[in-house]
Amino acid sequence: MQSSVFKGKKIILGVTGCIAAYKATLIIRSLIKLGAEVKVVMTPSATEFITPLTLSVLSHNNVIIHTFPGQQNTAQLSTWHIDLALWADLVLVAPCTVNTVSKIACGFADNALTSVVLARRSPMVISPAADVDMYEKPVIQENFAKLEKQGIFIIRADEGELASGLHGRGRLPEIDKILKACELVFLGYKKDLTGKDILVTACPTYEDIDPVRFLGNRSSGKMGYEIAKAACLRGANVTLISGPSNETAFDEVKLVNVRTADDMLLNVKKSLEANSYLIMAAAVADFKPAKAASSKMKKENNFSEIKLTETEDILASIDKKGKKVIGFALETDNELSNAKKKLEKKNLDMIVLNSLQDKGSGFEYDTNKITIIKKGDKAESFPLMTKFEAANIILTQLLNL
Ligand code: CTP
Repeated sequence: MQSSVFKGKKIILGVTGCIAAYKATLIIRSLIKLGAEVKVVMTPSATEFITPLTLSVLSHNNVIIHTFPGQQNTAQLSTWHIDLALWADLVLVAPCTVNTVSKIACGFADNALTSVVLARRSPMVISPAADVDMYEKPVIQENFAKLEKQGIFIIRADEGELASGLHGRGRLPEIDKILKACELVFLGYKKDLTGKDILVTACPTYEDIDPVRFLGNRSSGKMGYEIAKAACLRGANVTLISGPSNETAFDEVKLVNVRTADDMLLNVKKSLEANSYLIMAAAVADFKPAKAASSKMKKENNFSEIKLTETEDILASIDKKGKKVIGFALETDNELSNAKKKLEKKNLDMIVLNSLQDKGSGFEYDTNKITIIKKGDKAESFPLMTKFEAANIILTQLLNL
């Protein structure tokens, strides 16, 4: 992951007692790699799953477990929880048992971690993990909602096989998702897309010439995947129609894999009804071989005579009634006027322009420099930023359409 927002940030990592506690090691390493300083506070039951020494070595700091530090001079240390809480730019509790979730929701301060949480002034991210029946209990869901109302960022647990052998929601998400949630909070975003149904497309499409060769383009799909991730973290129900890609989508994203422009068109039409927004970030092929050869073409075949036909323009052909539709334009020349033409011709609500002339922008980069043009509005250009930051700007603009 690439992000500069963690550089120099002071983060308290709260670790609680569940089997996923070992993943705290990976969280600490990632945060430190991104330039953050990490101090760990464990609940006593977390120490049954992972040793404080491990987390202390990895975080390069002493680990706090007890509210009252035994033989030490408690008179001097009596306000340690306040001092530590005020030191932090962010408190992240991961994994957080549903027991600790409930304690935090009720304002308990019965151990070192809950005391720090109560004393904090910084934003907080909680990544709960539990067995499915514990996680899904209405009282726990109510506590999540209560904390969210107070501005605490709750990362929804993943669904899958659990340590108990049961299957369901309760798994601690991948580290990337936890880090992205922290990044989102540092960037100042909230769960403001809750209840929105957003359809995103990403990646190139591949148009087969024969069983071995295809026509494609250099799109990596990163921009579309980052939009899907950001929208999902901000609470939206996201469907991602993806062409061939090496990117990974979040567990919560409904992923539809396609290969060709025809497949993409079919699936966009199928999924659009259930969605209010379409963000068409895919680099759909404009041409396809008129007929794919059923066996491998040999050199003797005349490749220069492969007949191409135009693919259908998805944005131009869908029924946009009642939908807000965002397109992309990747240009090399006359960028602004070409993008404006596409906005009008394809009857879009907004278009996001990328120029291949901008350094660090376009294919394969983790960064992008975008210009946003809304229907009947002036163009607004943004500086070079990570594709995740750009994704969040696009989503905020979408809220104002
Ligand atoms: N698009 C689409 N269907 C296609 C081709 C493109 O829906 N068959 C969408 C893209 O996903 C993008 C927008 O149209 O959101 C603009 O794509 P772009 O390739 O920049 O423009 P084209 O219309 O293909 O024009 P050109 O390639 O000539 O610039």
